[in-house]
Amino acid sequence: MCGIFAYLNYLTPKSRQEVLDLLLTGLKRLEYRGYDSTGVAIDSPDNKNIVMVKRTGKVKVLEEAIQEHFSGADYSEPVLTHIGIAHTRWATHGVPCERNSHPHRSDEGNGFVVVHNGIITNYNDVKTFLAKRGYDFESDTDTEVFAKLVHHLWKTHPTYSFRELVEQAILQVEGAFAIAVKSKHFPGECVASRRSSPLLVGIKTKTRLATDHIPILYGKADDKKLNPDQDTDSGKQQVLPRSESTSEFMPLEEKEVEYFFASDASAVIEHTNRVIYLEDDDVAAVRDGTLSIHRLKKSLDDPHAREITTLKMEIQQIMKGNYDYFMQKEIFEQPDSVVNTMRGRVRFDGNAIVLGGIKDYIPEIKRCRRLMLIGCGTSYHSAVATRQLLEELTELPVMVELASDFLDRNTPIFRDDVCFFISQSGETADTLMALRYCKQRGALIVGITNTVGSSICRESHCGVHINAGPEIGVASTKAYTSQFISLVMFALVMSEDRLSLQQRRLEILQALSKLADQIRAVLKLDSKVQELAKDLYQHKSLLIMGRGYNFATCLEGALKVKELTYMHSEGIMAGELKHGPLALVDDSMPVLMIVLRDPVYVKCMNALQQVTSRKGCPIIICEEGDEETQAFSSRHLEIPRTVDCLQGILTVIPMQLLSYHIAVLRGCDVDCPRNLAKSVTVE
Ligand code: M6R
Repeated sequence: MCGIFAYLNYLTPKSRQEVLDLLLTGLKRLEYRGYDSTGVAIDSPDNKNIVMVKRTGKVKVLEEAIQEHFSGADYSEPVLTHIGIAHTRWATHGVPCERNSHPHRSDEGNGFVVVHNGIITNYNDVKTFLAKRGYDFESDTDTEVFAKLVHHLWKTHPTYSFRELVEQAILQVEGAFAIAVKSKHFPGECVASRRSSPLLVGIKTKTRLATDHIPILYGKADDKKLNPDQDTDSGKQQVLPRSESTSEFMPLEEKEVEYFFASDASAVIEHTNRVIYLEDDDVAAVRDGTLSIHRLKKSLDDPHAREITTLKMEIQQIMKGNYDYFMQKEIFEQPDSVVNTMRGRVRFDGNAIVLGGIKDYIPEIKRCRRLMLIGCGTSYHSAVATRQLLEELTELPVMVELASDFLDRNTPIFRDDVCFFISQSGETADTLMALRYCKQRGALIVGITNTVGSSICRESHCGVHINAGPEIGVASTKAYTSQFISLVMFALVMSEDRLSLQQRRLEILQALSKLADQIRAVLKLDSKVQELAKDLYQHKSLLIMGRGYNFATCLEGALKVKELTYMHSEGIMAGELKHGPLALVDDSMPVLMIVLRDPVYVKCMNALQQVTSRKGCPIIICEEGDEETQAFSSRHLEIPRTVDCLQGILTVIPMQLLSYHIAVLRGCDVDCPRNLAKSVTVE
């Protein structure tokens, strides 16, 4: 939800034009996080002012505006040290328009400018406080109060450093945020912080970095909250290094250095692979080229330093390559991504599975009261898809929960519950809140995520990284199949020592070994699916029916159709057909049915007959060579036979392709569906 990108060059000459290009490229990489409106702020050519350009719409629109706005020699002159900040927005407070776009400013003179991701929940209180002190507001956003609060603190506490001002402002605000602040009063400096929204710092130096850790520094008056009514600087923190940290770790003082502040790694990987993931309430400040990390509060279990980690990501992973859209690329990557999920974990020759991230916890998990699988959207569907197998192979009660509903119900949680949090981004607010809720109640927390260093990753006791590679299209595809496989692998690990289940495990392992080739075979249906899309794209609705192991595909297929094509679509449990949905069926209602040769085949055939006898003409997804089923419709997609519990991986791919082709035919923006964003970091 919103993308932040900031770039600081210290003793590294860059023209403003180059800085703008860097900011725009960073924003393009983050566009999947939100694309309602965009903006940048850089120094004016005389360095006395900050210039901002903002636009409604995508980064492309901003790029054109920037070309128009900044041209001429002034902008091509190299500057030794400079800081530029940029933002792509997914609106939460205030409609998408130029006025509400970030950066937001403190005053007409652009003294402080801020980019923000998240929601400041007490912004109304802060706004009232500032309004009483003469501040006028020009936007409907919560972010603007932050810029003005920093300005107010600057006026009332003139001896404060830039970082101290931001720290004090952070102490006054509640909610979730990642912010980056630039100021004309503190040229060449940047201060950034986060609370429940992701933010990392990329570091690029000419020579190898002298250290792998940045010490954490603490304010002396850790818990002292500045009284916003107090117009003196008596509440000033003296920020002193924590004594034990200075001897072990060196501060990062580089002669020539570039820093990148970004919402995620995809925006920095083309510049550097050395990053620090900030933790909640870290304040990262760069002054005179030196990066320091401060914490507002001291806690006993804090490490002494933040580690500089090396990203494993490759630049090609975040490029579209020869594909028209990221989503299309990600669908076609699935033969490889499922293998990557299993790599180093599944030994097909020895029928063994090791999940390194949870192996030490397996005895505890086996003793648990129940398994809870919690997620949102597609991630939730991966839980629905694997629930039956988990029940079968763990012989434990398995509850599947939508994170938002789970929280609404204040669901009872016990110390002997094991709670899985499934999330591609690892940052989804509802899922993260549910995680914290369960953790507070003493449950074991298992994270299933695709994003190393994400909040869910860090806050889990143990977990499985699904290794699907960066997923950039807003519609989730390869993350779903990899989440699915991760949960299947977990079920196999849990049943390792159950003699009665060995035959079943073997059957599943053998099916897993063939999966990549079978996915390739399904992907060959692409042109056939495209033809079917031509029949469907002008309709208003699509019903998707199935049951058993394929019910999750119906839900996931309907979600894909809705989010990409803006058509109505509904995943219907075929067993429920005669309890209501059958009333929708007639000769004009588009219906797709999944009918495979598994334990519920006869029941699915029953549903198929109910539909055809109401003059419905369904498209059928069935098994290769299943003529009996195919006889019910001239339009069918044949998929290879696999074990029942893995069918969902093969049946979801035609649904991904179908929604993709319908979206293209309807002229929709495949990678950036309207009103959506990839990572939903607000509740
Ligand atoms: O990052 P997460 O997996 O936690 O995201 C959860 C949902 O927001 C996400 O799956 C969403 O439903 C997708 N856009 C669906 O394609």
